[in-house]
Amino acid sequence: MVDILEQVYEGKAKKVYKTSEPGLYKVYYKDDATAFNGLKKGEIHDKGYYNNQISAILFKLLAEKGITNHFVELVDNRSMMVKALEIIPVEVVVRNIVAGSLAKRVGRPEGTELSMPILELYYKDDDLGDPMINEYHVKALNLATEEEMKTISEMALKVNEVLLSVLKPMKIDLVDFKLEFGRYNGRVLLGDEISPDTCRFWDASTKEKLDKDRFRRDLGKVEEAYQEILNRLRTMPITIAER
Ligand code: TMP
Repeated sequence: MVDILEQVYEGKAKKVYKTSEPGLYKVYYKDDATAFNGLKKGEIHDKGYYNNQISAILFKLLAEKGITNHFVELVDNRSMMVKALEIIPVEVVVRNIVAGSLAKRVGRPEGTELSMPILELYYKDDDLGDPMINEYHVKALNLATEEEMKTISEMALKVNEVLLSVLKPMKIDLVDFKLEFGRYNGRVLLGDEISPDTCRFWDASTKEKLDKDRFRRDLGKVEEAYQEILNRLRTMPITIAER
């Protein structure tokens, strides 16, 4: 029996607790929602439940496909056990379709298909608003080694391939997403969450937004979008989702 000990971290969307087992943390997903680096604040009813369940399904799927990650098991509706990573302060964004900050940066309309995926790096620092950086910054500032960054880039692109292939039959366009990685016993593992908070999902036929952009842009039906993503993921063949 693992005991839950003191809280070690509280972020905008999650709380992390130490446990009696070394190397094991409990993550609790909150309903709190923020955007624009905390400037916009709100709550999305049951978001914690949806993001915990969605992340669990996707982490299990990715592990099946050889992408090692921090997920251990679901604890309850809003919590999961994870391996206690030493987080690498580099956020990795992968994009397949122009949206959000890329649309602004390069002046192309949202929805423009990219001829190949784009990988972007951001320095994980809330006080600085997570500025964009490149591999030179990562190396020169000793945020990660060259070897770690090579692993991270390969893993991020593999995550993209796996998610694209599993979401396509569910009629979900994977527009873009953000990943975080960390060190565990000398290895790089995928961490954080994979949810409508950290991905852009569009309905493949209507292009309706099924992610946090509904909150960021006050589009309404926010909770329904998270629920829709979970419902579609639950149609995944049991051999993948339940293993
Ligand atoms: P962006 O277009 O605003 O740069 O966002 C790219 C992707 O990263 C999008 O799927 C949302 C996700 N994201 C986060 O998970 N956290 C953040 O703080 C930001 C800005 C974006």
